[in-house]
Amino acid sequence: MKNYSVETQCVQAGYEPKSGEPRVAPIVQSTTYKYDDADQVAALFDLSAVGHMYSRISNPTVEVLEKKLTVLEGGVGALGVASGQSANFFAIFTLCSAGDNFICLSNLYGGTHTLFTSTLKRMGIEATILPCTIEPKEIAKHVNSKTKLLFAETLGNPGVEVLDIEAFAKAAHDNKLAFVVDNTFATPYLCRPIEHGADIVTHSATKYLDGHATSLGGVIVDSGNFDWNNGNFDCLTQPDLAYHGLSYTETFGNQAFIVKARASLLRDLGSTMSPNNAFLINLGTETLALRMQRHSDNALEVAKFLQSLDEVAWVNYPKLEDSKDYKLAEKYLPKGASGVISFGVKGGVDKAKLFINSVKLASLVVHVGDLRTHVLHPASMTHRQLSEEQQIKAGIAPEMIRLSVGIENPKDICDDLYQALKAQA
Ligand SMILES: Cc1ncc(COP(=O)(O)O)c(C=O)c1O
Repeated sequence: MKNYSVETQCVQAGYEPKSGEPRVAPIVQSTTYKYDDADQVAALFDLSAVGHMYSRISNPTVEVLEKKLTVLEGGVGALGVASGQSANFFAIFTLCSAGDNFICLSNLYGGTHTLFTSTLKRMGIEATILPCTIEPKEIAKHVNSKTKLLFAETLGNPGVEVLDIEAFAKAAHDNKLAFVVDNTFATPYLCRPIEHGADIVTHSATKYLDGHATSLGGVIVDSGNFDWNNGNFDCLTQPDLAYHGLSYTETFGNQAFIVKARASLLRDLGSTMSPNNAFLINLGTETLALRMQRHSDNALEVAKFLQSLDEVAWVNYPKLEDSKDYKLAEKYLPKGASGVISFGVKGGVDKAKLFINSVKLASLVVHVGDLRTHVLHPASMTHRQLSEEQQIKAGIAPEMIRLSVGIENPKDICDDLYQALKAQA
């Protein structure tokens, strides 16, 4: 599948039935797997054989999605987990322990922000949050002997800032850090961060991969490219006592990271993706290429329309020619910049809420990436737990609306937004 184009990979990668097997990857609704020989099971426990043993750790339906995302992102292995939150948590916790720290750019999804600054902090892992406008070469000033990785989103949520992946990958690698990129908004149809130097890619599969707002899920993809033997990652090179002292790098080579994430973290934490969710997310991913192109084309049309209205103070969409990120978008997102737009309503918070309460076709939901159009007010919703100062640092203005443009007819979407912007209190 590696040599096929992305449209074909979306449809077919991950599952190649043998003669007489179901054409559609089936839902394997079984927690457990039968073996004939005690030594076979012992070998699975030792990680010296490959196979399913218990669905907390792996499952054939989840495996189909993992294989699909491995191909789509161009990695060497993937792990499906219960949600995007779990994916980001696993990516960090596979590499960081209490006393370690990592660096991330400020324009994060609100849930990622609280995970990093609250829950990980309680576990003794510090996040150094730097402005997303920082020059990549400045990263070095914030690195110490306990810094393990750099984390950023391809397209920020909700500001849709475009990440200069190559520049930040270089900054990470110059400082012996792994570069973890959350590719939820772009998806591998629009951008493959590994091709630009990312080491680990994470997804909230709940968004565009599913695409129909049916299922929570997360995926982590390992590029297999990072040199874990650079002296900074004892957690992968030194013996793991939970596995008879094996070293992940010695035993699994360039799959060390993703094997540890599964064998150690998923085993112990159990944030497992359900086979039903994997089935639905896989079904969604089959049409990803069609949907992402339509989301992106619609979003550009809607963004231009919003720009032409007096009621709108500003519009953020990287494919608008006057966007500060236009050049980066042309480089990293040549086919389109996904379906998310943020814009400011003239009249501040009150007008923003009136607008949200007045939409008819679009719905107010706490979600993006669905094939239906959605609106949300980040300051009072997704980013509510952040202080005013943190909101400003994360690029959340009080008048900001996050618009997730669906795949409906763009004229219908524009008409709905127009009538909602004209609404009177
Ligand atoms: C960029 C990004 N990463 C991670 C998440 C968390 O994903 P989930 O809701 O699947 O836990 C989200 C959710 O909105 C997101 O937008």
